[in-house]
Amino acid sequence: MTDTAHAAMIDTADLNLDPYWMPFTHNRYFKQQRPANRMIASARGAYYTTVEGQQLFDGLSGLWCSGLGHGHPKIVEAVQRQVAEADYVPAFQLGSPATFRLADRIASLAPGSLDRVFFTNSGSEAVDTAMKMALGYHRLRGESSRTRFIGREKAYHGVGLGGVSVGGMVANRKMFAPLMVPGVDHLPHTHNPAEAGFSKGQPAWGAHLADELERIVALHDASTIAAVIVEPMQGSVGVVIPPVGYLQRLRDICSKHGILLIFDEVICGFGRMGDWFGAQAFGATPDLITFAKGVNNGTVPMGGVIADQKIYDTYMQGPEYAVELFHGYTYSGHPLAVAAAHATLDILVDEGIPQRFAEVGKRLEAGVHSLRGEPNVTDIRNFSAAAAFDLTPIEGKPGLRAIRLFEDALKRGFLIRFTGDTIALAPPAISTDDEIDALIEAMRASIRAVA
Ligand SMILES: Cc1ncc(COP(=O)(O)O)c(C=O)c1O
Repeated sequence: MTDTAHAAMIDTADLNLDPYWMPFTHNRYFKQQRPANRMIASARGAYYTTVEGQQLFDGLSGLWCSGLGHGHPKIVEAVQRQVAEADYVPAFQLGSPATFRLADRIASLAPGSLDRVFFTNSGSEAVDTAMKMALGYHRLRGESSRTRFIGREKAYHGVGLGGVSVGGMVANRKMFAPLMVPGVDHLPHTHNPAEAGFSKGQPAWGAHLADELERIVALHDASTIAAVIVEPMQGSVGVVIPPVGYLQRLRDICSKHGILLIFDEVICGFGRMGDWFGAQAFGATPDLITFAKGVNNGTVPMGGVIADQKIYDTYMQGPEYAVELFHGYTYSGHPLAVAAAHATLDILVDEGIPQRFAEVGKRLEAGVHSLRGEPNVTDIRNFSAAAAFDLTPIEGKPGLRAIRLFEDALKRGFLIRFTGDTIALAPPAISTDDEIDALIEAMRASIRAVA
């Protein structure tokens, strides 16, 4: 579905760009360039329409969140109905039936005994929430010495101070060192093109890197460690797929030492990995799952944590009239976000969207690996409907080749994402074979154009 109905031109010549401090954006470059093809007027299906009426194929599903495409009529209708019915309900000491029902639905999709759902408004908040839950869990069980968190290099866990501390992307960390949560250590990342370059699906090499957790435990002692947090598939850094057996090993080591395992499924959750969560797709069950994005197709901000029953139960002590967890957000379980999530889940279930992502992924896999041998392409990897390739940096100007590719692709009508000199692709589940093929051919042309 293209966006022809919404292709009206919008004149931006007089628009003052200065006051808006854009997030994760080169502000000066953007404002100097005033790129009309990066000014979005509307979105329908798998396409954005720019202010000049150009159609852009949404090659990253927004920011990994709009897997059903934009403006899905069922989601639009649900949100419109909800805003008229109850625009806001306080989240503390009150609830609405739809929020309870949503928690029930999400719990039923999650693996094992992950049965308790807490709502936040973003992935970052979800990560900080999960970290607090883990700390409190140990404290309530009389193990208050368990305060350390173990993250992983290259990880992205959002921009909250907890998430930045356990995250592993240097640019997100280096300015904020004094604010970091103390006592955090990091596992090594698993991206190794020399050993597992150009792998299709899960790399066969690398499970042994999970054993580094044993080394970290030996260094700090298990009695000081609250939780390990990893993205099952590292998305934001550029699609780093867990090696076969890696997540299971992490699970085993955590269980052996009484350490909680948190899967940050903000990108992986709700179908992208070809199953409901990365946990099921990769066959390892954590104690806590964080989610956001795909839960309601990115329509209204929403995130959350799914906690193992044992964690929730541990909090349920003391007088019954007392608040058990002193944490929450004004907009936790916001009625509009909940309505959008119900409509999204209806579509995900009724239309078998996780399987659809897997099918899109097969086409994407064949296509993206056909880029091997194109100039400057040093690695390619994929799993389900997520793929990435790395480019040789321009000498002395890291990141510039990817920016140029991004700009070239836009001219061709394709929106993709770059991190450093890595290009990530995560098309929506509604993508047709022809659209995936066109995305790949645009990448090929752009790679050559920036060689
Ligand atoms: C794994 C992961 N965790 C957390 C976040 C942060 O989510 P948000 O931007 O909604 O705060 C992201 C965002 O991309 C993510 O990929």
